[in-house]
Amino acid sequence: MNENSASFAALDGRDPANLRGDPITGDRYYSKEFAQKEWDGLWSRIWHVAGRTAEIPEPGDFLVHTFMKESVICIRQDDGSIRAFYNSCRHRGMRMVAESSSLEAITCPYHGWKWGKDGVLQFAQDGHDFPQGDPCGKLSLKELRCDTWGGFVWYTMDPKAEPLLDYLDPMPQLYKNYPMDTAVRVAWYRIALNANWKFVTDNFSESYHTRTAHPQVPPWIDQDVDTARHEMWPRGHGRTVQPMRPSLSDRLPEGVPHPFEAILQQWDIDPSSYASYEDMAMQGWLDLKAAKRRLWQERGYVHYKDMDDEQITDSPHTVIFPNVTISFLPDNLIFFRSEPHPEDPEKCFFDLWCMAFPVEGQETCQSIMAGEKPLREVETCEHRDFDGGRGIPELAGQIVYQDMELAEGMQAGMHSKGYEDAYLPAQETRVRFFHEVLNDWLEGRR
Ligand SMILES: [Fe+2]
Repeated sequence: MNENSASFAALDGRDPANLRGDPITGDRYYSKEFAQKEWDGLWSRIWHVAGRTAEIPEPGDFLVHTFMKESVICIRQDDGSIRAFYNSCRHRGMRMVAESSSLEAITCPYHGWKWGKDGVLQFAQDGHDFPQGDPCGKLSLKELRCDTWGGFVWYTMDPKAEPLLDYLDPMPQLYKNYPMDTAVRVAWYRIALNANWKFVTDNFSESYHTRTAHPQVPPWIDQDVDTARHEMWPRGHGRTVQPMRPSLSDRLPEGVPHPFEAILQQWDIDPSSYASYEDMAMQGWLDLKAAKRRLWQERGYVHYKDMDDEQITDSPHTVIFPNVTISFLPDNLIFFRSEPHPEDPEKCFFDLWCMAFPVEGQETCQSIMAGEKPLREVETCEHRDFDGGRGIPELAGQIVYQDMELAEGMQAGMHSKGYEDAYLPAQETRVRFFHEVLNDWLEGRR
């Protein structure tokens, strides 16, 4: 893989000519047979995110990622590397640990076998009683491939999977200017939703729903379809890049304070210096780039150091096939992910990790999905049931909450005899593309 590789060039994510036209049928969202095909053809073969590297700084620190009925341990080694092992004792198969923690050795709670950080068996009760010979020093936990990118720990269950950086192509090059390792997770949720996991990827593959579902967004992220860039890549990844400036076609009523004015003022730009609303939106956005360029260093925005003019003011909302979405905002890195429920294809778990880039001299941050937060790593994940919104009242009104509110209605609609296939505008090309790449995996074309 290199910067000149052909796959770096984006396909037009707004051109249905790039599609075969595979139907997006309702059974994909509720059929147990389809969910089984996804396990066999997709989940057991892709790269998964186990957690953040910052969670396991010291040797013996480990992440536990339980995905459907599988469970994997990613453990920091003495030499600083990270190795991944199945969370299953080689003795009788017992699952050994339930949660991320830190241990010198992992001890099976059933018969007391003790496994070192390197996966090698250190102790077995009555080692002399094995006709095969004492298993200590001989047996190892079954290992998986493990790698890191973007401050995330990744693993794959497929020994033949392509290398992580190839799998992610072209994300590592596109986002090389972001110091992703330094982003601090300030809000961390895992939310049970009554919808198939694909609802989440579908939703993040288009911005067509924004004006209806998120009316607070157009005043500060331009939602006009013709000013956005829609891109997708052969491996199924895609993004919509929108300028973070007011949409010209969505005017707030006279007298309502405009959120973009506060953003301009924050960077010493006087919003009243513009002759018109259009001027404030368009020239103000250019002036904002220039002001950030001029002032980032003295203001402590050290994460702008290598970012380009698009990256310091715009919103590339990026789906990494099949189930990870990252919003690379100028000051926030937001990680969204859906994972299937182990039994019920009509349920999923939705992960929301709000991360912020540290700004020197600031002790709090504005987390775009979770409000103002202290700028420090949260220690534990909040496990919630969305429950019509009642399970997570502190996020009410946030963009991501508005998305979650749509999940059950979409799931219900997938069962209707009135639904046969989606009827898509060009700007939703990536929704069908996602399903086509998924079909490629399930039908052995990947
Ligand atoms: Fe949305």
